[in-house]
Amino acid sequence: MTIKILAISGSLRKASSNTALLRAAKQLAPEGVEIEIYEALGQLPHYDQDLEGDVPANVVELRQRIAEADGVLIATPEYNYSVPGVLKNALDWASRPYGESVLTGKPVAIMGASGSAFGTVRAQNHLRAVFHFLDSKLVGKPEVQVGNNWERFDNDGNLVDETARNLVAGLVAALVVVIDDVQKAKVAA
Ligand code: FNR
Repeated sequence: MTIKILAISGSLRKASSNTALLRAAKQLAPEGVEIEIYEALGQLPHYDQDLEGDVPANVVELRQRIAEADGVLIATPEYNYSVPGVLKNALDWASRPYGESVLTGKPVAIMGASGSAFGTVRAQNHLRAVFHFLDSKLVGKPEVQVGNNWERFDNDGNLVDETARNLVAGLVAALVVVIDDVQKAKVAA
């Protein structure tokens, strides 16, 4: 059976290193694991609880795609020591209505690339707190913090840094382990 992972980049930039990191994950994924990159982050409206009665179609689609995925893989940039607003906005939409969050119990792995040497460590800490509150099944290790991002990719956006490639492959493998555990627990329940 194919394992389906929805990948979300927190950057809207065409030449985003975080989206490139997701493309690398897609290439490095083992057989039987399908990684699909979500591309509509920039079209989501700002979260507004008044819209919950008549949820915009692209929000319905986002919730459905997360619900149908076996796991979620996020690549986040770091904006001013934290998570970009567009990414947080999508997670806020996915987390509601209260009690019906599609992220509850969902296997999630996070990684990130940034221009500084710290490779999104501060943004990832904030993101971990969000998923902790949402009761998602967050992968702990490996931590994938790709610093000095301009050195890690070639001009076509391919991840060429061997250490980073190994870490990305390791993170996908760790996410698959969590997905397997969650699926086994469901069968046993
Ligand atoms: C940044 N950048 C940045 N980098 C970092 O390491 N720590 C930070 O706090 C910030 N803050 C920040 C704020 C804003 C508004 C921007 C636009 C950028 C730089 C950032 O790491 C760099 O632009 C990355 O390349 C962004 O990721 P993508 O777009 O390549 O995926």
